[in-house]
Amino acid sequence: MTMSGKRRFVREDVLRIKEPSYRSLPDKTIKMNDNSNLFSINPIVRKIREQFDFESLSAYPSVSSDMLRNAVAGKNGVDPSQVIVGNGSDEIIDLVVKAFVDPGDAAVILSPSFEMYSRYLAVAGARIIESTLDAENFGIDVESIISSRAKIKFICSPNNPTGNAFSLTDIRRIAEESDSIVVVDEAYIEFALDQESAVGLVDELDNVIVLRTLSKAYGLAGLRIGYAVGGREPVGFVRRICAPFRLNRLSEWVATKAIESDDFVKKVAEMAKEERDWTSSALSSLGAVVYPSVTNFLLFKPPVPSAVLVASLMDMGIAIRDCGEKPLLDGCARVTLGPRKLNERFIDAVRTVTEDAS
Ligand SMILES: Cc1ncc(COP(=O)(O)O)c(C=O)c1O
Repeated sequence: MTMSGKRRFVREDVLRIKEPSYRSLPDKTIKMNDNSNLFSINPIVRKIREQFDFESLSAYPSVSSDMLRNAVAGKNGVDPSQVIVGNGSDEIIDLVVKAFVDPGDAAVILSPSFEMYSRYLAVAGARIIESTLDAENFGIDVESIISSRAKIKFICSPNNPTGNAFSLTDIRRIAEESDSIVVVDEAYIEFALDQESAVGLVDELDNVIVLRTLSKAYGLAGLRIGYAVGGREPVGFVRRICAPFRLNRLSEWVATKAIESDDFVKKVAEMAKEERDWTSSALSSLGAVVYPSVTNFLLFKPPVPSAVLVASLMDMGIAIRDCGEKPLLDGCARVTLGPRKLNERFIDAVRTVTEDAS
């Protein structure tokens, strides 16, 4: 069969990828769907106007964001050569895949988990091996992950969208016993008050790369800042393919200040814990099954079909995420928590929809 138009020029791997369903929501929508920080504004944001040197914007930023890399290194007790910063941790996932994955290489991801790993892996032409979580408690199958022969393994902990974290002992075993690059995505670790970070492994286990973001607990999603801390050798390979000047001066300045003073993050994590407890019991009393979470979001199975709930809430101006199509999550939805008033508004809306349906 001959291909028409410009399809002739497109890579086979790109043709196989579904068009993304991303869409921008109207500004007025209450966005309880993207796990950003809805609790409060990071105080550094209010200082930008008086403290940031706007005239410096006529000059390029530093080639590889040295000021921010130094701050991240200091905070995590590693050398700056072990740090990469990026335009959101999404960009770093892309860079890591580009640096390590050849077409046809095997890569392990958890299922269900954050969708961007499979997206970037598909672009790279990887053979994706899904390690399905335990259907009861979303636990991780350590043995099967270790025994899967793959160049790269992505472990999201705490996991999006299930909300649970995996023990550092399990993560350590996977890294120790796998002849692979192990990427541990800790986008939500700041909310998991009792969870130890895998950053402590990177000097000992030279195959570990840990991803972090300032889009969640730090409350800076709009600036797009993520970072990775890892073994010197793997990080060195990723740095080889980094374009210069990827972070702009404003993002680098704000991120550096935010990392240097993270009392705000601790307060947000405390608020998230309280709101998880409150919202979980409110949802349960409406007949939903709520899964344990250590993050700023809850996965739950409402008493009405998730697609109906999500569409009805959207009509009321509240966006949440339908997870009902994902493996193991039939009928489930995910809601990002915020201050009590917002969660009450969400609960009132869920009550209206469930009462109307009965
Ligand atoms: C697990 C996980 N990793 C990474 C990201 C991407 O974060 P960023 O905004 O830094 O690109 C997200 C965003 O939702 C996420 O849930």
